[in-house]
Amino acid sequence: MDINKKEFCLIGCGRLGINLAVFLSKQGFTPKAFSSKNLESAEKAIKLTGKGQVYDNPVKAVKTSNIVFITTPDTVIEPVCENIASNDGFNKNSIVFHLSGALSSCILKSAKQNGAYVGSIHPLQAFAPYEPGQESPFKGINISIEGDEKAIELGKEIVNALRANSFTIPTEAKTLYHASAVVASNYLVTLEHFALELLKNADQPEEKAYDILEPLILGTLKNIKARGCINALTGPVARGDDEIVSRHLKDIDEKMPQFSKLYRMLGQYTLDIADQRGEISEDARQKLGDLF
Ligand SMILES: NC(=O)c1ccc[n+]([C@@H]2O[C@H](COP(=O)([O-])OP(=O)(O)OC[C@H]3O[C@@H](n4cnc5c(N)ncnc54)[C@H](OP(=O)(O)O)[C@@H]3O)[C@@H](O)[C@H]2O)c1
Repeated sequence: MDINKKEFCLIGCGRLGINLAVFLSKQGFTPKAFSSKNLESAEKAIKLTGKGQVYDNPVKAVKTSNIVFITTPDTVIEPVCENIASNDGFNKNSIVFHLSGALSSCILKSAKQNGAYVGSIHPLQAFAPYEPGQESPFKGINISIEGDEKAIELGKEIVNALRANSFTIPTEAKTLYHASAVVASNYLVTLEHFALELLKNADQPEEKAYDILEPLILGTLKNIKARGCINALTGPVARGDDEIVSRHLKDIDEKMPQFSKLYRMLGQYTLDIADQRGEISEDARQKLGDLF
């Protein structure tokens, strides 16, 4: 069986799996086999792609193709792969991918005992269930790839076919890469939640709080893109204004003490960033450091 035939098998027909199968099948890749925990999910995948066959046994499903995607929830990728490998399911020289951001291709190592190559492809995007006729959720997004060289090579071709942008990361860096995505997305939510709590306590109505801050938030993101984080930093810490920061802390400690520790931690990290610009006096840096 030839990789160049671009025939694939998909195990785990959920949100990402079906989106992947639909949009790859529009770009010269052919779904040959679908397998999922419930047969109905695999049947739905066939209905939506118009191609392929349902298998209740994943071992038989992967025999049909030299490209395999395991798009089950993260917790079962490794056991699903081990089950297939221990039954000699993967074809020699086939390429097996998972699409988890948190886990590296190492969890697919059992496939190597069948002579397969392994890799992971992670789209930095949140996927909703596929709706017929919808736009591709892959178009223009960024997708990381890591794993065996052959898997990276094919991964790039797949990402290209999806009209997305690929970048590679070392296998051992996958966890830090994922932590970065969590900070950039999830912790941004956390930070804005903190800001909104402060504003609500400044007597602003809850329903207006986000709208009040939105131009500031979006303007800051624009500045980061244009000038980088260090040069985008403004405000009392960047100016070395310890008096203003001291006032913030007095009110937070008094009225919202549950946020005292968080404000100080963020302040210290902000001071470290400001310090890299080298514009704060030694005296101000010392005073701000003591406050935090
Ligand atoms: N959704 C996202 O936004 C997103 C973004 C980036 C990466 N990912 C990654 O994509 C992968 C899939 O995530 P998802 O959001 O698509 O999950 P999902 O919607 O829950 O889909 C997972 C599918 O796997 C099937 N499944 C569960 N256990 C299985 C097993 N033992 N054998 C075979 N199939 C099994 C489920 O089956 P049934 O339907 O048959 O019950 C379900 O349809 C994960 O690795 C996730 O980290 C997801």
